[in-house]
Amino acid sequence: MLRSTTKTQVKPLSPPDARGNPRPFLKWVGGKGQLLSQLWPHLPERFERYHEPFLGGGALFFALRPRRAFLSDVNRELVDCYTAVRDEIDDVIAALRTHRYEQEHYYEVRAQNPFLLSSAERAARTIFLNRTGFNGLYRVNRSGQFNVPFGRYTNPLICDETNLRACSVALQDAELKVQDFTLAGDSMLPGDLAYFDPPYVPVSATANFTGYSADGFNSNDQARLARLFGRLVERNVHALLSNADVPALRELYRSFPAATLLASRAVNCDTSKRGKVNEVLVLGRPAAAPRRVVRLAAQ
Ligand SMILES: C[S@@+](CC[C@H](N)C(=O)[O-])C[C@H]1O[C@@H](n2cnc3c(N)ncnc32)[C@H](O)[C@@H]1O
Repeated sequence: MLRSTTKTQVKPLSPPDARGNPRPFLKWVGGKGQLLSQLWPHLPERFERYHEPFLGGGALFFALRPRRAFLSDVNRELVDCYTAVRDEIDDVIAALRTHRYEQEHYYEVRAQNPFLLSSAERAARTIFLNRTGFNGLYRVNRSGQFNVPFGRYTNPLICDETNLRACSVALQDAELKVQDFTLAGDSMLPGDLAYFDPPYVPVSATANFTGYSADGFNSNDQARLARLFGRLVERNVHALLSNADVPALRELYRSFPAATLLASRAVNCDTSKRGKVNEVLVLGRPAAAPRRVVRLAAQ
């Protein structure tokens, strides 16, 4: 059986402030940067290793800076970018410095075949498109080509060298993988902390919804995730999961306690229907101690 070789980690008293600490180097839809102070009190005081199977911008990972982390996502471009930031930060920074905030340059870079670039150049391309594309969106067409239009900003910071270097340091002991969340469960051990931040359940979802969220994560995936969550808690993994606070989600996790996170996020891309929806944080705390076995005296 796998055994943890790291020492137990103690949670810092509060989320770090901005100075000198790594912050997500990518803008990511659904990023948890704004909710960190509300998430913090629900993190366990101590844990062994940290897992984030829906990595995105990794806001909680960078705030916690765990000593040993397992980070994964199905988005290969995203995970490759993290890997280059971890392993080749000088080359990523050098490649990023060749980019500039100009519409024509943006569309030229967008049209490049990323697989003809070195891994550092590819990561720099991802960061550049993310920081200068419309709303920091990540969207690809059917043939997998990034198709987000140019974004309007005043002087966007394309190469935040200090933050990128801090992120690279934070990632040194992280294992990065392109994988579905189900496989991420295999490496979780008792005492570990796992934070799940999947794509949102559609906000219109009723308790037995069948729809797809924008990125193809459907009701079967949400149900699969809820089953994994239950199995992990039984295995004494400290699991936390955030999602939109809608009846379908409450129903899926009805056997767990939950907290409400007051979100300030607009969740509908149709501006006429834009509304703010709170998030729910499902608290999968393992039992504090194994249940006592009471033996009945033989009659
Ligand atoms: C809401 S975002 C995570 C945001 C992140 N917590 C942050 O702070 O930026 C959801 C992520 O789940 C990933 N994802 C979607 N389907 C997945 C799957 N089946 N397995 C693993 N990751 C998946 C997406 O690529 C996306 O990066």
